[in-house]
Amino acid sequence: MQTEASRPDSTTNVAPTPQRIGVPRETFTGEKRVATVPEVVAKLVKLGFSVAVESGAGDHASFSDDAYRAEGATIAANAAELWATSDIVFKVRPPSADEVALVRPGMTLIGFIWPAQHPDLMAQLAAAKATVLAIDALPRTLSRAQKMDALTSMAGVSGYRAVVEAANAFGRFFNGQITAAGKVPPAKVFIAGAGVAGLAAIGTAASLGAIVRANDTRAEVADQVVSLGGEFVKVDYEEEGSGGGGYAKVMSEGFQKAQREMYASQAREVDIIITTALIPGKPAPKLITAEMVQSMKPGSVIVDMAAEQGGNCELTEPGQSVVKHGVTIVGYTDLASRLARQSSTLYGTNLFRLSEELCKTKNGVINVNMEDDAIRGLTVIKDGEITWPAPPLKQAAAPAPKPAAAVAEKKGGHGHGSSAPMPAKTLAILFAVAAVVFWFIGAYAPAAFLGHFTVFVLACFIGYMVVWNVTPALHTPLMSVTNAISSIIAIGALVQISPPLLGVVSSADGRPDSLIRGLSFLALVLTAVNMFGGFAVTRRMLDMFRK
Ligand code: NAI
Repeated sequence: MQTEASRPDSTTNVAPTPQRIGVPRETFTGEKRVATVPEVVAKLVKLGFSVAVESGAGDHASFSDDAYRAEGATIAANAAELWATSDIVFKVRPPSADEVALVRPGMTLIGFIWPAQHPDLMAQLAAAKATVLAIDALPRTLSRAQKMDALTSMAGVSGYRAVVEAANAFGRFFNGQITAAGKVPPAKVFIAGAGVAGLAAIGTAASLGAIVRANDTRAEVADQVVSLGGEFVKVDYEEEGSGGGGYAKVMSEGFQKAQREMYASQAREVDIIITTALIPGKPAPKLITAEMVQSMKPGSVIVDMAAEQGGNCELTEPGQSVVKHGVTIVGYTDLASRLARQSSTLYGTNLFRLSEELCKTKNGVINVNMEDDAIRGLTVIKDGEITWPAPPLKQAAAPAPKPAAAVAEKKGGHGHGSSAPMPAKTLAILFAVAAVVFWFIGAYAPAAFLGHFTVFVLACFIGYMVVWNVTPALHTPLMSVTNAISSIIAIGALVQISPPLLGVVSSADGRPDSLIRGLSFLALVLTAVNMFGGFAVTRRMLDMFRK
């Protein structure tokens, strides 16, 4: 319970009592995940919190009570004891009616809430005077929020599991094989929707050796599909699919018709379809019709990851795996829970990162700072007052659409160089001014300065050209390779380490100074780490862009 003593007190120097984080057993039927794992408990304890876990909470995710205890958690015998002794409760699923009855005023509840879908639950939690942080309401476009993004980590696990479910129901190998018993063609997998889950599915299916194709209404994901080993299949209809914030919008009738034609031809050809298409606040778009299912080869598989939101396939039965027209249609709505140990670990880490943001002082007391964009976004109830939806983020505001001419011009250019060219007159004036400055420096500055200045100007020019002509996506590898190249300073250390050889001496008697040589050796070792490490990191990063 958040007592007076547990609140930070600015008027006295008395340290506040650390708050207790409670982790109950999930009560939703079939839910195997748990909101924290033993390795995270240790980190929460380091942040100053005390942690209590309900007995058996981690059983389905293979985390025993003893494992939690070993990392510093206390074990509560049952839910009533846990909720009664906790200031903050970490949950996975929204609380059930029984759990809402255990919420006390001043308590903080953190977990998936889905406020738009659960208005009654929101009203009950507000009436209980709780503070509620809905992890699903996190502003995902804030780069600082990525470490707390449980939607992304759960979607990644689900995408992986969808492929595993497909492989389980499919009667053949994913990869092509030539054996003494005959030739096996690779399986063809089509992924509808290449968001977080779709991309995870593409990577997994490709790594199993399948031929993977994918489609999305947001054209910007095409490169990501290719980088994960898939082929992006376009709909033969020009329409931008982005609806803001990285999400999709409902497409026009014309687009949907063209998309249906393309999906119909893919359905006839492929062995497995995994659908992940969602539009926030809308039912899942129906992409796979009954006729398409009928046209698939016998033994084919559809995994409909949108089943909970109504399904992307007309024949999906949410929560079930059914066979219709000889095609297995998997509509499981608990894919992340089916990989409970992995998803609990990722989710627990997301909540730990959130705890770090809430408890910057590391004194075991949280501060729900409504001035912080990320915290504001996910705080849906503050001290019993509904604060959802949060105002739109200023940083995430969509840029004003560019005029068609400007867009066309950008397509023709490359990298940053696609910005509007400078007018010829301005360019001529700039050159004239630069020429006068150079003449002035040449005439009056000392010769040594002129040499250095020329090198400086050339370095600026080369640096500008390199950075501006490299695609922005490659700037990180560029930085790392530049860092590796900067190890050229090793030459300085080499000169110092072997003075007689190079005709340089460091001490008065003409013998090399051993201190300088020692330091030079150290410098060489450190520079070598920088050099080889820099090239190795660059190579790994560039590999991510290769097919
Ligand atoms: P989601 O689960 O809402 O949708 C899944 C995918 O379905 C999306 O890629 C969407 O474009 C696609 N889709 C919707 N209607 C479709 C249709 N009719 N046909 C084909 N595809 C359709 O989205 P998710 O995976 O949660 O995130 C989507 C995107 O949001 C990510 O790809 C990412 O770009 C962005 N995002 C950005 C973050 C950031 O900026 N830090 C964090 C997380 C996501």
